[in-house]
Amino acid sequence: MLPALVLHGGAGDVDDERAQAKLIGVQVAAREGWRILNMPEGSALDAVEAAVRVMEDDPNFNAGIGSVLNFDGDVEMDALVMEGHKLEAGAVACLRDIKNPVSVARLVMEKSEHILIAGQGANRFAEEQGVARLQPEELVTKYETKCLEDFKNDRKGKPPGVGTVGAVAVDRKGRVAVALSTGGTCGKTPGRVGDTPLVGCGGYCDEAVGAVASTGHGESITKACLASSIFNLMKQGISIQNAADESCEFLTSRTGGTAGAIAVSKNGETAVAHTTDKMPWAIVSDGELRAGVKWGEEVSEKI
Ligand code: GLY
Repeated sequence: MLPALVLHGGAGDVDDERAQAKLIGVQVAAREGWRILNMPEGSALDAVEAAVRVMEDDPNFNAGIGSVLNFDGDVEMDALVMEGHKLEAGAVACLRDIKNPVSVARLVMEKSEHILIAGQGANRFAEEQGVARLQPEELVTKYETKCLEDFKNDRKGKPPGVGTVGAVAVDRKGRVAVALSTGGTCGKTPGRVGDTPLVGCGGYCDEAVGAVASTGHGESITKACLASSIFNLMKQGISIQNAADESCEFLTSRTGGTAGAIAVSKNGETAVAHTTDKMPWAIVSDGELRAGVKWGEEVSEKI
């Protein structure tokens, strides 16, 4: 069953007309992640970073280019990387003008003594590491500009487009890793930080058990410590799918928010769960790539 890769493109309000583009997007990201994971020495960490970078570069996802806008119309992004051998983690919050925040999170993990760097400090760190800074408008899409306008015109409506992109993997050596990236929530207060860069909320992994990545309403996920909730149930021996389903359902019943999650065990078992109507996802294992967006609908191909 090793290696195995699971990824998601964000639980939340997925317009029907965008669902197909997101389905294609998670398939493309899964193929790239698998290309790396399936190499003889392919590492879980390299695979999840690569898969997330593909989704950050795809304007159909709320991460990197295509991130939602905060109330001032600016993009502020959060990202997390964690590996399950030494429990090393790196994260950024409120990062601006960077194409691939997930790679800055990895640099925090590998090149700094910290776990989470936020705001101007995160941008300064990225610059010191030689990461190119974009012009602010390069991350802004017409679609998200319209979403912010609609949100401001109907403040009583719930913010659209909640979601994150994420990937979890276990490689041939049994190493596990998780990576996540997001623009957060449309119309958020500048400076707001969601669950994504928080260890145990957005993601968690330990090679003794597996890896988990969350998505959905960040405040609800943080209250429920969703990733660690799923992880702890897996650790207790609950089946991976039940662990993910039960934790997402608990979150929704206890907080009123919605969320989703993906998980992989150290043995290559996988799970996809969500309490939203839709969540783009893909699983690659045993020579097959399966993907879907809506409940009960999936496509598959040999890989
Ligand atoms: N789950 C992404 C966020 O709420 O920021």
